[in-house]
Amino acid sequence: MFVKEIKLNNFRNYDQETIKLLPNINLIVGKNGQGKTNLLEAVYYSAIGKSSKTSRDAELINWSKDRASFCIDFEKKSGTKKIEIIFSRQTKKVIQINGVNLLKIGDLLGNLNVVYFSPDELKLVKDAPQDRRNFLDTDISQLSKNYFYNLTKYNKILDQRNKLLKTAQNVEILEQTLPIWDIQLADVGSKIVFERIKFLNILKEIAKKVHAYLTSNKEDLEMSYAGIIGENAEEIKNQILIELKKCREKDIKLGFTNIGPHRDDIKLVVNGVDIRSFGSQGQQRTVALSMKLSELEIFKEEVGEYPVLLLDDVLSELDQERQQRLIKYVGRMQTLLTTTQYDPFMFQGANIIKIENGKVKN
Ligand SMILES: Nc1ncnc2c1ncn2[C@@H]1O[C@H](COP(=O)(O)OP(=O)(O)OP(=O)(O)O)[C@@H](O)[C@H]1O
Ligand SMILES: [Mg+2]
Repeated sequence: MFVKEIKLNNFRNYDQETIKLLPNINLIVGKNGQGKTNLLEAVYYSAIGKSSKTSRDAELINWSKDRASFCIDFEKKSGTKKIEIIFSRQTKKVIQINGVNLLKIGDLLGNLNVVYFSPDELKLVKDAPQDRRNFLDTDISQLSKNYFYNLTKYNKILDQRNKLLKTAQNVEILEQTLPIWDIQLADVGSKIVFERIKFLNILKEIAKKVHAYLTSNKEDLEMSYAGIIGENAEEIKNQILIELKKCREKDIKLGFTNIGPHRDDIKLVVNGVDIRSFGSQGQQRTVALSMKLSELEIFKEEVGEYPVLLLDDVLSELDQERQQRLIKYVGRMQTLLTTTQYDPFMFQGANIIKIENGKVKN
């Protein structure tokens, strides 16, 4: 699928602007603070139903105006569509598809699909396990409603177990009641872990290939699930029960549950070394990119066409060879790529859009 045209009206630092895009690479060029990321934000919003930057819609309206809107024209296999979103300081936002008002924001999802990569995404590699679990959970939830349902259920059980650990009057009561919670936690938890491992097994093969490509076969990426593992849900369930029992004393002492899918992680190893602790900035970025690009491939398998790729400021930390390979790779799908400077030779054939102070320069 690809976006054909973006019309902005009082959106952020834009006045009225129409931007035409091509189905392959669109390079959005400009100095700092000119409106490059704002442009991606409008496309992101029309796909996801919220901003990539803020939860307050009022921030999207130009400071000197009361209303803002944008209109995204896009084409997918099933035909062309137009998403228009109108924001007002006084009233609720209005979302329209092909001119018809949507009643629920949920109805917007699945129309335009995007994958967004910003410098922030480096946290996928660098930060705490939570970010990597979120990556898995968000992706799998999009592909399976059942997974989302189990995740919600697991978190509720976990909350109750933790509450009990904190508030129980004495250890005897805990010793009696914890096993009941453990069975429930292990039952739902094992389904989550099983689905995560299944998903990761597909993802890691694709990510390995993409990563090898981006690094000209110089680096090898190994991904694995770090936590309780097993061949099937039953095996995982038994393992969780064993571990919960082993951890019981520690749980009681600390007042929370120390093992389970809510503590698991993805291990990322490049050329035999843990990339989170020992990787350079550029190496970490390449791993994060490989994971995101693999997401795109899985998505294509499921939906039947590539989503639109939004790459915000990703070139800066990559060496020229990696940049070249990335650009070649993303040429197969529509990509909106922002940058402050570029090598014209590398971007031959790309649609170059120059942005200055919220305006397209010709
Ligand atoms: N609601 C708003 N009304 C008017 N201007 C705004 C609004 N929100 C943000 N801006 C302005 O938009 C500009 C930021 O634009 P954006 O983040 O798109 O820059 P950029 O071109 O991506 O820059 P960089 O290269 O630094 O990432 C800032 O100068 C900011 O002051
Ligand atoms: Mg920016």
